[in-house]
Amino acid sequence: MSTVDVRLDRDSVIGATDPRLFGAFIEHLGRCVYGGIYEPGHPKADQKGFRKDVLALVRELGPTIMRYPGGNFVSGYNWEDGVGPVKDRPARLDLAWMSTEPNTFGTNEFVDWCRAADVEPMLAVNLGTRDGDAARNLVEYCNHPRGTALSDLRRKHGYGKPHGIKFWCLGNEMDGWWQMEMKTATEYGRIATEAAKMMKWIDPSIELAACGSSGRTMPTYGTWEDTVLEHTFEHVEFISLHTYLNNYADDTPAFLASPDLMDQFIEEVVAIADAVAARRHSSKRIMLSFDEWNVWYRTRRNRNERVKVGWPVAPEILEEAYNMQDALTFGGACISLLNHADRVKVACLAQLVNVIAPIMTETGGTAWRQTIFHPFSDFSNLGRGNVLRATVNSPAYSASYLDPRGAVDNHYPLPAVPYLKVSAVHDEKAGTLTLFALNRHLNDDMTVDFITKGFSELAVRQAHQLHDKDLLAFNTAKRPNRIKPLPLSDIKLQKRGLRATLRPASWNVIRLKASK
Ligand code: AHR
Repeated sequence: MSTVDVRLDRDSVIGATDPRLFGAFIEHLGRCVYGGIYEPGHPKADQKGFRKDVLALVRELGPTIMRYPGGNFVSGYNWEDGVGPVKDRPARLDLAWMSTEPNTFGTNEFVDWCRAADVEPMLAVNLGTRDGDAARNLVEYCNHPRGTALSDLRRKHGYGKPHGIKFWCLGNEMDGWWQMEMKTATEYGRIATEAAKMMKWIDPSIELAACGSSGRTMPTYGTWEDTVLEHTFEHVEFISLHTYLNNYADDTPAFLASPDLMDQFIEEVVAIADAVAARRHSSKRIMLSFDEWNVWYRTRRNRNERVKVGWPVAPEILEEAYNMQDALTFGGACISLLNHADRVKVACLAQLVNVIAPIMTETGGTAWRQTIFHPFSDFSNLGRGNVLRATVNSPAYSASYLDPRGAVDNHYPLPAVPYLKVSAVHDEKAGTLTLFALNRHLNDDMTVDFITKGFSELAVRQAHQLHDKDLLAFNTAKRPNRIKPLPLSDIKLQKRGLRATLRPASWNVIRLKASK
């Protein structure tokens, strides 16, 4: 392949990454909570039942904010079932995942876990089977200091100080038929507005995300966002986006191209949100909360399959084993999020442990990193700062991505996919420039010239690469490091930047000391 060049200017900035861009998600689903983050009796559990081996991996992964308790689960959840003495909590049928929810872990345990993991808690309220009343009561229980029945109930439960939850999701995927009490955009827009009003009357400092479409493939996509924002515009700060990338077609080039559809999705939702603002002559800008994103396709199961196994507690469902090519597509998604740092201020990798997750555990046993762990930890630990606008001059290929849930012919054409997908983040304070580069060519090395402007001196601080000839290789409990980052050494500093050679089908991170 001919040499590819990338031009970067220190003063040409897309936006600064919000710390909440690097979030993740814990749902009461399968073994995410029970047997994942929480397993009383496990040899590595602390006094609260939190697995310390999992906590150590979470700290290494570096998520900043954690969405909870769902997901589809939240649309049938009574938050009151999960607080107070554990012995008094009811077990309930969870109609989202056809499981039994024992409720031995609830909001307070979640907040405790977040404090232990050093992440900010983020809650979703049930706007499926419940409404604004349950939502405002949860805000009062969590955030009101004292002197009311609900705030004093929290205090009685052992939490004298308010939890101070700042970020709230107004329901989950309310456009989807699979949701308990799905709604039309108008129905949802109304209920979300009323819930938002009351939640903010209790705590005006909170920020709210209205549900966008549960995917770009939904038949109501676009009109849903427009109608929902027409109702909620004055009451929310965010609209949500969800995407799960797939390789159903067993078409690796198209799969690696698929994060480019996230770029389109983001830009379209920004356009709709800004059109709603324009109609109102408003300078307010609704920001985007990409609060579910990942690769997911092998372990999707239909409701009939689920019901056959009865109503188990914490079944082994959605335990996707991520391979090398999944990690590459996943890295591409990280780049898409970084390159929209001006509007995507919150994002949550779905999910954290066991369920379509970067961290896997054996119940009673060990914990390990999946392949996608590595690009996420790069993204979060090294992606803080100003994202620079990169001008990429790369050969391109065309692809057609299959999404069986698609609205039009199930195929999404991608006529010009640059082999190189790249993001560059300048951390002024730390004096670093970090380059994230995905070589999507399956066979060829790629020589890239990064031509920089505005940095007088560059020096390589660290550089590594995720690459394996076997794109189907993955990590297991027995071989937890089958796929892991290795040093990237083929880098030469040049007069105005650097030249790096990237292996075929590789995820690459180069962190430079970058002085003015
Ligand atoms: O993350 C798994 C599920 O995907 C979530 O519960 C739901 O919101 C989405 O459909």
